[in-house]
Amino acid sequence: MSEDKTTIKVTIDNITIDVAPGTTILNAARQIGGDVTPPAMCYYSKLEGSGGKCRTCLVEVAAGSTADPRPMPKLVASCRTNVMDGMIVKNITSEKVTDARNGVVEFLLLNHPLDCPICDQAGECHLQDLGYEHGKEGTRYQFARRTFKKEDIGPYIQLHMTRCILCYRCTYVADQITQKRVHGVVDRGDHAAISTYISKAIDNDFSGNMIDVCPVGALTDKTFRFKNRVWFTKPVDAHRNCETPGCCGKATLWLRGDEVFRVTARKDQWGEVQSFDGKPGWICNTCRFDKKQTSDWVVEGLTSISRHSVIGANKYKTLDMPKETVKEVMHGVEPKLLMDIHSISEVNKPGIHLSEIDRPANSSDFKK
Ligand code: SF4
Ligand code: FES
Repeated sequence: MSEDKTTIKVTIDNITIDVAPGTTILNAARQIGGDVTPPAMCYYSKLEGSGGKCRTCLVEVAAGSTADPRPMPKLVASCRTNVMDGMIVKNITSEKVTDARNGVVEFLLLNHPLDCPICDQAGECHLQDLGYEHGKEGTRYQFARRTFKKEDIGPYIQLHMTRCILCYRCTYVADQITQKRVHGVVDRGDHAAISTYISKAIDNDFSGNMIDVCPVGALTDKTFRFKNRVWFTKPVDAHRNCETPGCCGKATLWLRGDEVFRVTARKDQWGEVQSFDGKPGWICNTCRFDKKQTSDWVVEGLTSISRHSVIGANKYKTLDMPKETVKEVMHGVEPKLLMDIHSISEVNKPGIHLSEIDRPANSSDFKK
């Protein structure tokens, strides 16, 4: 008699893990973490129905299951394929996957402009990261790129349709966390585009979350546009007592000095909004666009930023100092003594430490 198993085994890139039945390959890989995890441009665990659009998460299934160990004939989208007991998956260990991912990135970049130097998403763009890892120096595409008429979709969000990769995440946000969706993907094929039909229509309380889920710079914050590069700002975790139903009141403030340049939801290691008490931490437009003073918030401390990202530069919570070996090899002599130029310099008088005097140095401090 077969027993219902509570966990099943899956091996991804030679690492075996037990997961709950019904887990997708992508989520099983996320449980392992690190390089084993396929990139995901359209899947978003907090948005129901997301995934299956971009193909960046393709993996090779070398054995379907213990019961049927035949390999799957084609690469599969890991965000849409559930694991089976005994399944063997290859991600970074598969040449086929690397080759296919290079191809997917080439396709994504057919129409996406390489305007990272002027794009507000630069530094935190998932396509930019993918481009570095899988992109080619040049394009083989010889046709004109898609262009669109500029469209004003509302007071807070700037739409750059040429950058959109049609991942549909913003439409799921509008469907699932706002009262009504007034935008969507209109037309088909090469003409498919994000649009509202009625200009300036997107103005509901949670529309700002579309900016956070957009994996590229197609939807950016009008209140932050061109004001600063993300890697020059300092992200801190902060919270406020927000009374808007559905707003978690927990955010990341992006500071320059004491000035709040931008407010976003807090992101996890996969670039998705963090969950609090089992619920996604969406924030309302009041927190995002109107509370731009540090006095509006209770600042908790520096945000942890993944070190692989350019915005992580110089923003480490703790500094790991390298081990000091000079003292050891110099038989106990302190390295500071080796560099004490004061006692051997012939410039200032021996009793005067220029760095310690509480006035400007003058001729009486120096040797004649
Ligand atoms: S605008 Fe952004 S979130 Fe919306 S479909 Fe395009 S890429 Fe995805
Ligand atoms: S993340 Fe799986 S298809 Fe886009």
